[in-house]
Amino acid sequence: MSTTSIDSLLHENRRFAPDPAFTANAVAKPEIYDEARADRLAFWAKQARELHWHTPFTQTLDWSNPPFARWFDDGELNVAYNCLDRHVLAGNGDRVAIHWEGEPGDSRTITYAELTSEVKRAANVLAKLGIGQGDRVAIYMPQIPEAIIAMLAIARLGAVHSVVFGGFSAESLRARIEDADAKLVITADGGWRKGKVFPLKTTVDEALSANAATVEHVLVVRRGENVVPWVDGRDLWWHDEMAAVSDEHEAQAFPAENPLFILYTSGTTGKPKGILHTSGGYLTQTTFTHKNVFDLHPETDVYWCTADVGWITGHSYVVYAPLANGATQVVYEGTPDTPHAGRWWEIIQKYKVSIFYTAPTAIRSFMKIGREVPQEFDLSSLRVLGSVGEPINPEAWVWYRDIIGGGRTPIVDTWWQTETGGIMISALPGITTTKPGSAQVPLPGISIDVLDDEGMHVGKEAGGLLVVTEPWPSMLRGIWGDPDRFRETYWSKFAHLEGGPYYFAGDGAHLDEDGDVQLLGRVDDVMNVSGHRLSTMEIESALVSHELVAEAAVVGAHDDTTGQAVVAFVILRSRKEGTVTASEASDLLRAHVAQQIGAIARPRQVFIVAELPKTRSGKIMRRLLQDVAEGREIGDTTTLTDTSVIRLISDTMQ
Ligand code: WT7
Repeated sequence: MSTTSIDSLLHENRRFAPDPAFTANAVAKPEIYDEARADRLAFWAKQARELHWHTPFTQTLDWSNPPFARWFDDGELNVAYNCLDRHVLAGNGDRVAIHWEGEPGDSRTITYAELTSEVKRAANVLAKLGIGQGDRVAIYMPQIPEAIIAMLAIARLGAVHSVVFGGFSAESLRARIEDADAKLVITADGGWRKGKVFPLKTTVDEALSANAATVEHVLVVRRGENVVPWVDGRDLWWHDEMAAVSDEHEAQAFPAENPLFILYTSGTTGKPKGILHTSGGYLTQTTFTHKNVFDLHPETDVYWCTADVGWITGHSYVVYAPLANGATQVVYEGTPDTPHAGRWWEIIQKYKVSIFYTAPTAIRSFMKIGREVPQEFDLSSLRVLGSVGEPINPEAWVWYRDIIGGGRTPIVDTWWQTETGGIMISALPGITTTKPGSAQVPLPGISIDVLDDEGMHVGKEAGGLLVVTEPWPSMLRGIWGDPDRFRETYWSKFAHLEGGPYYFAGDGAHLDEDGDVQLLGRVDDVMNVSGHRLSTMEIESALVSHELVAEAAVVGAHDDTTGQAVVAFVILRSRKEGTVTASEASDLLRAHVAQQIGAIARPRQVFIVAELPKTRSGKIMRRLLQDVAEGREIGDTTTLTDTSVIRLISDTMQ
């Protein structure tokens, strides 16, 4: 729990009441809390009926076999139809769905009618390649419209996508393709990042070269215009295939519980978990939360969420919810500082963005650059600002509101996870009096609690573990291929409480004097670096896979910009000692982790040490290493076998 200093949260007493003019026009009315409390299931059924159902459901929730939930089970719908055809049929085909901005400065404007016909075409391409209900398709793409088109085309066919963030390594991609037995991979020649084209197709080739017998075809979008190797028979150009099919495609209905996607995320063990989401409940909650948390008025708002579609935020709040709500949104391909430090603010000015959703890491790095940069642009169109991915410190919250939001916009700090599918805890703009640094209140229809280790409610002004006490529509339905790990990871800790099992989120939380929730960071061996989840074990395994390494321990250390940073302590193999200097070894190992997992996992520091602090039973004491990495006084060492070890490490680092 190191991302946010609890003291700074506890002593934060600024309050921001909603502006009455905002409240008068707000989507969410205060009554929805009472409505949801009075009958939670009726509340969710009502939200679900906002969608188009080919076959209406008659049952809301089946929780007879926990932790396996079934929502709207006998209903049938088509997720893509809800995001596309529905709007065209309602006469909104000319509304802009996507203002896409490429990093080099090219742009595309795509209406709902155009997006619908592109997705229909893509569905025909995929069907021709043999993709049907239940088949898994991997997507490894830059942030371009085709990534969204591909996801929706897969959904339209009742197939299952597994999007792998374009920054992951060939090895990470291979593991994900294999775990899901993907039949098809959709990628691009390259994408633009920091003024350069990064290759994607070559990484796919490398991933498939090892062993991915299940992959029959690779569909390649042309974006980077870079030269790519080609495997005849297997590889196909997206534009050739799209040109060869019709743009007529009738959406078929699929059961509400038909799998929609798998998205891999890091857990406490080395192997990433394939989080499984299904259709009706997922779309219900993401759509409801997007509309209410961001106060979306689809006819007039321009919404921009900066997340990559490779993460859950991109799935829920770039692809599915905004499109299901008929929103007009901005999608940007590149990095915030290319070609200049004001690129994001320039985009907000250009498209008159009114709702903006980003991560605290980004806000903190802009704070570091200084307010002069955003102040060069006209940001007066903004009216709601959102934050997600990690705890936001009050300083960053207030800067965000004052400098980006001109001191007028409500800020919604949204807590949720890959597993929850949609937002769970957040203020509602126009209703909630907001508090810097606090996610505050569970959304209507969501039941949470903060418990101590024994499962007792902690009460006000106390900290403990965050749990969700009732199933929710967009909850994960399992871990792909591993029901035991699903039960064990999320449902075993508080399985036996009355009214249980409860969902254990892995986060620490504090209830303030009003009973509002402040998130404190992970309580397990999971780090949060720039709002991305990384497993200490996964990075340790990557380190020990290098021939130089005998043993490794990884911790997440506080970092002013990225929240946490990866810090590794490594013992070299004795016969390798002397062949490289400590600084060479450290550079090699940082590069090795980036190559094994992806650049996001590259350690900020790798310290070469002679020993690691262990308990008498042989467990590495990461807590002590974290003290060292954060430059703190070293904590309790009483259970340590040899207390001199930690002194030695700490001295080495000085
Ligand atoms: C973990 C989930 C949800 C989309 C992005 C991350 C942390 C997320 C907040 C927030 C404090 C937050 C938690 C959570 N987290 N949002 N508003 N305040 N912490 O998704 O990769 O599944 O990570 O991110 O620790 O468990 P993810």
